[in-house]
Amino acid sequence: MGIVSKLRRTAAATGLAAAVAMVSTAALAAGEAKHPEARDWHFTGIFGTVDVASAQRGLQVYLEVCAGCHSLKHVAYRNLGALGFTEAEIKAIAANFDVTDGPDSQGEMFERPAVPSDRFVSPFANEEAAKAGNNGANPPDLTLQVKAHPGGADYIHALLTGYADAPEGVEVPAGSNYNPYFRGGFIAMPAPLAADGVEYSDGTAATVDQMATDVVNFMQWAAEPEMEQRKKTGFKVVIFLIILSALLYAGKRKMWANIDH
Ligand code: HEC
Repeated sequence: MGIVSKLRRTAAATGLAAAVAMVSTAALAAGEAKHPEARDWHFTGIFGTVDVASAQRGLQVYLEVCAGCHSLKHVAYRNLGALGFTEAEIKAIAANFDVTDGPDSQGEMFERPAVPSDRFVSPFANEEAAKAGNNGANPPDLTLQVKAHPGGADYIHALLTGYADAPEGVEVPAGSNYNPYFRGGFIAMPAPLAADGVEYSDGTAATVDQMATDVVNFMQWAAEPEMEQRKKTGFKVVIFLIILSALLYAGKRKMWANIDH
């Protein structure tokens, strides 16, 4: 082995060791947050798909509970077609919300009911209003929250179901709530889910666990509406590469078969 490559290897190993050390220090620093339980999600794995019935119920949870504080800015009502909603249903859902439009011919802005091509209407006009309404904490947009946290689905499920009484001797600051899954343990979001907080039209019992699962399935769909297509394409590409490798190998054997070496 050349001295240069030897040096490079040592440098790489040192770098790796340093990186591992940094990661474990970071983990220690954030040590108070409880590790979410790993759950079985319908959408994981290369053949994983959206649990449509659950995601539909999750939309209901989002609209009736979360939408009071959280926006979902990157999804348009008409995208709900991909979750199995009919055009009439989508129109009806959109019409529950008012959007500011304009200016009209007089230069005035005006309010009108939302239509399918509108994005989901945000609960607050701007970040300042959102903070003012939530003890200074900004409820993040929910479109990409599943992607924004490592193990996002497990984490959000744990967060939504993990509110608890603070342990003995732990003082919860005013405007905060104790949740061991949140970094630092205190979160400005009050526990949003309570049993039977929504009434599911398909008769599913609305336990806190069920609503959390459903809203996470909905948020996963919102974060990656193209997931199933992506997985199908990926699978086809892998099959293609396997066949191509087999052909190339067979061709190579054939070409070299009569050559002495
Ligand atoms: C009363 C307002 C309110 C409601 C209702 C509400 N939230 Fe929140 N949410 C907040 C606020 C405020 C924060 C920011 C918390 C903080 O930074 O301390 C937050 C933060 C979050 C976070 C980010 C947590 C993190 O680690 O950064 C997620 C995910 C979330 N909410 C999901 C939901 C879901 C899902 C629902 C509906 C089931 C919901 N919220 C309902 C106010 C609300």
